[in-house]
Amino acid sequence: MIAPVEIAGVAKVVPERIVTNFEMEKLVDTSDEWITKRTGIHTRHIVTEETAVGMAVEAAQKAIAHAGIDKNDVGLIIGSTITSEYVTPSMADYVKKMLQIDAVAMDISAGCSGFIFSLTTASSLMDTLHIDTAVVIASETLSKYTDWTDRSTCVLFGDGAGAVVLKKSSKPCLHYPILAGTADTEDVLYGYRERRNTPFCKTESIEKEYLHMKGSEVFTYAVGAVEDILRQLLEKCGDQPYNKIIPHQANEKIIDYVIRKMEMKYEQCFINIGEYANTSSATIPIAMFDAYEKGWLKKGDRVALVGFGAGLSCGGVVIDWTI
Ligand code: ACO
Repeated sequence: MIAPVEIAGVAKVVPERIVTNFEMEKLVDTSDEWITKRTGIHTRHIVTEETAVGMAVEAAQKAIAHAGIDKNDVGLIIGSTITSEYVTPSMADYVKKMLQIDAVAMDISAGCSGFIFSLTTASSLMDTLHIDTAVVIASETLSKYTDWTDRSTCVLFGDGAGAVVLKKSSKPCLHYPILAGTADTEDVLYGYRERRNTPFCKTESIEKEYLHMKGSEVFTYAVGAVEDILRQLLEKCGDQPYNKIIPHQANEKIIDYVIRKMEMKYEQCFINIGEYANTSSATIPIAMFDAYEKGWLKKGDRVALVGFGAGLSCGGVVIDWTI
């Protein structure tokens, strides 16, 4: 069961440093034209001094302030990340410490699908543990796991964080969560953390630490998974279909393809990949914040969130927007 909850607050935090495609031209053999045409990306925010955990703390504080709640009301914090600086405690535990609150806290690692997985886990746990208020944060610093000499991946990623506050409500506003996965037998998307030398274990090659991706295979998986989830959600919505979509921002071409297949209007889909590139699990909450702030997402809208990523994994959920 998922608890009847609403989204009461939303926030984003992105690093100050903006890196343009023209700057990427100086790092690798690429061009603004290639990146723009193949992905829709123009710029990305990249950490200099910022950290995944630091951005998570700030995003949580901002979302709590936006919701207008007392931080001590938060009983659950779920962090979504694949790039936390800490092996332990979890990023969510660190947020709990910095906010000085007592709460259940844990992280979820589900690649770019992580935010949808975390949202679903939070609303399920709110029901199971009778918790009234939760914070879900996605914070990522993919730039630290990017091979900056590999033009096929380094142009695609950016850093950032987004957070939402979930509050129990009399009317359920989060509906029909779908989480799914398929075995990545061909290793189309993975990153490997180096094991340190120990008296018993030889260090693996550091090269493997980087994110490795077979782009066209991920593309093929993504278009199929996103369309499938959107169709399933549409069916579950019955006579109250969603009117807008906020998809994971990995490549504008994936989004274009799905809009066409779903026979939706371009304006029904929020796209901000041009500014931030792919920030992994943070793309959806960052887009939710921008969509809300720009007035694209309005009270009364029914919006489908849909994501996909490493695992391979995918997920979607429908939200009635109430703020
Ligand atoms: N600049 C210039 N040329 C490039 C670049 C670049 N940055 N990158 C690759 N190329 C070249 C290739 O070398 C290749 O050249 P060749 O034809 O001489 O061999 C050519 O461009 C075409 O390469 P493709 O890989 O076939 O290009 P494609 O059109 O498939 O675009 C891309 C690649 C953008 C990666 C696309 O496949 C994609 O977006 N895939 C999905 C990625 C994704 O969704 N990832 C999400 C998950 S990420 C995560 O979970 C952390």
